[in-house]
Amino acid sequence: MNGGTPNAPPAEGATWRRSQRGYEAPVLIRQFPPELPFAFLGRLLPSTEPVEMGVELHRYSSDRALHLLQGARAVAETELSSEDRGGRTSELEVARDSAAEFGRAVARRDQELWRVGLRFVAVGPTRPRAEAVRARLVERLTALGFACRLPRYETAAALAPPDLSGTDSRPPGYWQTLPTDGVAALFPFGDESVMEPGGVLVGLALTDASPVFLDRWRHPSYSWGIFGMTGAGKSFAAGLLALRTRWMRPEVEITVLDPLGEFGRWTRALGGEVIEISPGGVGRLNPLDPVTTGGDRREKAARVASMLRALFPSLEDEEAAGLDTAISRLYDRGPETPTFDDLVAEVGRDPHAQPRLLALLDVFRAGSLRVVNGPTNVVVGAGPVSVDFRGVPEDHLAFHLSYLLDWAYGRLRSRSGEKLLIVDEAHLLVRSRATAEFLDRVVRHVRHFGAGLILLSQSPEDFLATPEGRATLRNLHATAFLRLPEVSAEARTFFGLTSAEGEWLPKARMPREAGYSEALWRIGPLHLPLAVIASSPEFEFLNRTLGPPSDPGEVTRGTAAL
Ligand SMILES: Nc1ncnc2c1ncn2[C@@H]1O[C@H](COP(=O)(O)OP(=O)(O)OP(=O)(O)O)[C@@H](O)[C@H]1O
Ligand SMILES: [Mg+2]
Repeated sequence: MNGGTPNAPPAEGATWRRSQRGYEAPVLIRQFPPELPFAFLGRLLPSTEPVEMGVELHRYSSDRALHLLQGARAVAETELSSEDRGGRTSELEVARDSAAEFGRAVARRDQELWRVGLRFVAVGPTRPRAEAVRARLVERLTALGFACRLPRYETAAALAPPDLSGTDSRPPGYWQTLPTDGVAALFPFGDESVMEPGGVLVGLALTDASPVFLDRWRHPSYSWGIFGMTGAGKSFAAGLLALRTRWMRPEVEITVLDPLGEFGRWTRALGGEVIEISPGGVGRLNPLDPVTTGGDRREKAARVASMLRALFPSLEDEEAAGLDTAISRLYDRGPETPTFDDLVAEVGRDPHAQPRLLALLDVFRAGSLRVVNGPTNVVVGAGPVSVDFRGVPEDHLAFHLSYLLDWAYGRLRSRSGEKLLIVDEAHLLVRSRATAEFLDRVVRHVRHFGAGLILLSQSPEDFLATPEGRATLRNLHATAFLRLPEVSAEARTFFGLTSAEGEWLPKARMPREAGYSEALWRIGPLHLPLAVIASSPEFEFLNRTLGPPSDPGEVTRGTAAL
């Protein structure tokens, strides 16, 4: 039965499917030709034929690529040495030699290996029309040397949207393994204003829609900033860039400092963990643990002093001096891994301790910060990690962000490989000079550990207000300005914006009205107005996973280690 309409045509046959837009008849590729002419797509997909091509790309890490190529070579060699190879000697020799050749190219990083999901779909208003379009497509494919395959009783699996994992189960012929050159031949465009090989698609130029690809790891600073008013698309852009970075470099480690808890579902959907620091959460990263400085206790004492300045901006000179002395003593002679109880006790040991200082520190014993008083109780693995501290009181946000930045810095330093750290609401760190200075140092040093930051903030003006904030801005390789309500003369001068650019920024289109965001990207010396556009599966994924959790219990708790 079909929705109670006995005469309605069936929705699916052995090799086709009926959808809202008509009949869809897929074609998969059983085997690629040994060579593909560039721009072959023009011949294959003439604009007169209603045919779509879907391409999904997942890059293999170089270790995995070498492993696959060694495997392919070993199989060819075994078959060549067997008696029973029929007339396939020359084909097997080609397979063996090309696996060896690609192995060398991958080791040199000239080529990479990709897991490619590829399908063609002929579309028509009726089944015979769709099938006729498909028959002509198969003829053209065959003429170019492709061997085709029609999925039988597998149409739904062939046509399902990608789930972005690269591991979804598909009919034979969907997944292919191709080197970079083969992948490049699948793209119809070749002209672009910035195309850094190995980079991620940042956006399309508003002038001519040419794509702009950037590779953060090619430049002296791996860090970028994204500024824009609320709703301009900062979190979305960061989520999109991180997704595309993982896609290009699956091994990249992602950490998110997430004051509003917007990246929780996103992180979990990518197989990662969420540490919930919020009041009522169970996760704790002890801000006093010297592990974050690799055991350097003097450096740790300095960082603790600056995070407490961010927490208590009203400290008088004498109180600040008393606190600094107590912190130094704590790291000189105190327990290996101190907690706030130890710090409070250390302050109390001073007979001249300021009573107001003791009263302020009471927030760690009896007040709302007692959740951070104690040893670290979460262990996190290599997958994406986000730290959610939604719900903490407004005047504690800067403190949380600063000790979490210290924690993240320790994490970036202790792990090898390339890493990305997203810091949302980064302006919280530049309100206090001490934490602004720490952020500046982090931005300058993380490249030594292969790490880059993406700083998200509503306005660049907060950063321009202090020398440390300005130094941070100078050390970002790329800065994107989404819609800004206004651009001060100071910002224009600092960023070298033309008056036309300054006047355009308050008019940049918002995603709410355009369905994408517009931004002025400042990339080294270039200024490029770009549209930040997600593909449909990227949009569906980000739209589903970014944003505050709808159900307060939804966020996965950090893993209790003790
Ligand atoms: N490039 C885009 N394409 C499509 N939709 C987008 C894009 N950018 C943002 N959006 C949508 O616009 C809304 C606001 O985006 P987002 O949350 O990223 O803004 P924001 O700048 O981070 O705002 P806030 O400062 O309030 O955190 C979201 O619903 C998001 O899905
Ligand atoms: Mg946001």
